[in-house]
Amino acid sequence: MKNKICLVTGATSGIGQATAKALAQKGATVIVAGRSPELCQNTVALIQSETGNPNIHYLLADLSVQAQVRGLAAEFKSRYVRLDVLVNNAASIFFSRQVSADGIEMNFAVNHLAYFLLTNLLLETLKASAPARIVNVASNSHRGKHLDFDNLELERGYSPGRAYGCSKLANLYFTYELSRRLKGTGVTVNAMHPGFVRTNMAANNGWLVRFFLPLVHLNSLTPEEGARTIIYLASSPDVESVTGKYFVRERDVPSDPVSYDESIAKRLWDVSEEMTKGMA
Ligand SMILES: NC(=O)c1ccc[n+]([C@@H]2O[C@H](COP(=O)([O-])OP(=O)(O)OC[C@H]3O[C@@H](n4cnc5c(N)ncnc54)[C@H](OP(=O)(O)O)[C@@H]3O)[C@@H](O)[C@H]2O)c1
Repeated sequence: MKNKICLVTGATSGIGQATAKALAQKGATVIVAGRSPELCQNTVALIQSETGNPNIHYLLADLSVQAQVRGLAAEFKSRYVRLDVLVNNAASIFFSRQVSADGIEMNFAVNHLAYFLLTNLLLETLKASAPARIVNVASNSHRGKHLDFDNLELERGYSPGRAYGCSKLANLYFTYELSRRLKGTGVTVNAMHPGFVRTNMAANNGWLVRFFLPLVHLNSLTPEEGARTIIYLASSPDVESVTGKYFVRERDVPSDPVSYDESIAKRLWDVSEEMTKGMA
């Protein structure tokens, strides 16, 4: 991975931080994307000291705010001439329905629209850097869900499992549709499920949740174990030209049958474009 530039979102914690560290260990220049200057500085210092790789930098953005996603992409392009690997990883689950500064339901805004917008804003850079790879961190929580376009932001019947699962199903539609659009460009895009991993996921939902998280995480994977498939997709020659697939434990597996519906994927693309209007 020497001479490769990798951008990892949500790299201040959990699976994203383990991914950034592993890519740094392989010699890549790694850009940690986070929303807290302090967490970003700590992460950069930690990775530099643990890997001995000095080429670790950070960029700031709250990915629930589209203007900040645009700012992140613009800042990246002003500082770096190429992008070899983009890992869309930052996500949250919201136990009660909340809306972003842009007025969009938070699971949908952070977990899907930020992946969609950031990737599209960086697409020309990725194409110019080909062969390049995009890895979308999804989840098996997509299984059994379906998108209701009349209630995409769950104004009716909100539940955290449904909202989070639908946003992760959106990751798959996005991955498959993007892989079709990227045919012949040398840029691949795959999605993956990391397993059940001991991270800060859900810790944004109050002290009671934070109190019980260690119990919930008994027998869960470490962030390093959860990051393995991301590293594989980001760096292994075995998957250099593999695109439009869903991976679990470094294996290409079928996602839920509903996720392969191309008409839904196209419709979600159009809706996402509309909801991020102004996108380049
Ligand atoms: N943990 C699991 O069992 C599991 C299972 C399946 C899939 N996943 C997926 O794995 C990915 C990583 O999650 P994780 O488990 O590692 O959780 P985590 O420890 O909570 O890490 C999430 C990361 O996303 C960042 N983030 C969240 N909202 C953001 C926002 N609005 N703007 C910028 N950054 C934001 C967080 O930043 P802060 O540090 O500032 O909070 C953090 O760095 C997610 O896509 C998740 O859906 C996790």
